[in-house]
Amino acid sequence: MRALLTKVEQASGMDRAGDRLQRVVLSTLRPRRLRDLLHGVTLGHPLHPAMVQVPVGAWISAAVLDLMPGQRRPATVLVGLGTASAVPAAVTGLNDWAALSRDQRRVGLVHAAANTVGLGLYAGSLAARLSGRHGVGRTLGFLGLSAVSLGAYIGGHLAYKQGAQVNQSVSELHRISDGWHSLADMASLPQRALITREVDDVSVILYRHGDEVTVMLERCPHQSGPLGEGEVQEIDGHACVVCPWHGSAFRLNGGEVVQGPSGNDQQILPTRIQNGVLQTRLP
Ligand code: FES
Repeated sequence: MRALLTKVEQASGMDRAGDRLQRVVLSTLRPRRLRDLLHGVTLGHPLHPAMVQVPVGAWISAAVLDLMPGQRRPATVLVGLGTASAVPAAVTGLNDWAALSRDQRRVGLVHAAANTVGLGLYAGSLAARLSGRHGVGRTLGFLGLSAVSLGAYIGGHLAYKQGAQVNQSVSELHRISDGWHSLADMASLPQRALITREVDDVSVILYRHGDEVTVMLERCPHQSGPLGEGEVQEIDGHACVVCPWHGSAFRLNGGEVVQGPSGNDQQILPTRIQNGVLQTRLP
C-alpha cells in the first residue's frame, strides 16, 4: 500500500483532472472569507480534521448497532447523521485540497474518491433502511465503512507522510538550543520593517514597532514560504506579515493566522533587551 501511494504521489497523469477540479473549487469557493472559514483560520487550527469526526463517529457507531439485535432505528438515525455531516466535511476537505502542492493533490484526489464512494454507499444504505430493506442497508453500510476507512488511511498518508495542512514551521523550534540568543542591537533596528536574522541556523523575522519587537519563525506554516520576503499589511486593524507564496497572513503582535490558506498560527519567540541588545529564546 505504501509503495502504491508513493506511485500516486508521482502520477503526473492525474494532473489534468486535478488542475481542472482545482479551478472549479477555487471559482466556486471564491470569497476569501469563506475559504478562510473552511480552512479553519478563525479557529487557528485546520477545520477539516475536526469536521470528519462527526460522520466517522456516526458511521462506526451505526456499524456497531448493526451487529446488535433490535437496533434498526438508532442505526438508521446514525447513518443519516453521518451522511448529512459528511457533505460539509467534504467541502472543507476540498477547500484544503485546492491549496495543496501537486504531489499532495494527487494523493488527495484518491482520498476524495474513496470517500465519495463511501458517501454514495451510505446514501444508498440510508435509502434502503428508510424503505424497510434493512438487510440491504446493513450490507451497503459495511461496504461504505470499508471505503471510508480506505479514505482515512490515504488521508493519514497525506497528512503524516506528505505533511498536508500540518504546521510546516514548528519543527524549526527543535533546532534552536536552550538559553537566550542575541539577535541585534536595538539602536540598529529600523521601525516597521521586516528584518531576517538566524538563531542557530533557524531563520526568524524581526519587526519593530516603537520599543516592541516581534520575533517570529520565518518559515510559513503552510508550505514553508519565506515570510521575510513578504509584505507587511494592515488587516482588521493589525499589522500582519503576508506570505509571498500563497497569501497567508499572520498578526505580527501574536502570530495568529488571519488569512489562509494556512490553518495554523505562526510561532512567536519570547524576547528581552539586555544592554541594548535584542535577545530571544525558545517559548
Ligand atoms: S507557503 Fe503557502 S501561504 Fe505561505
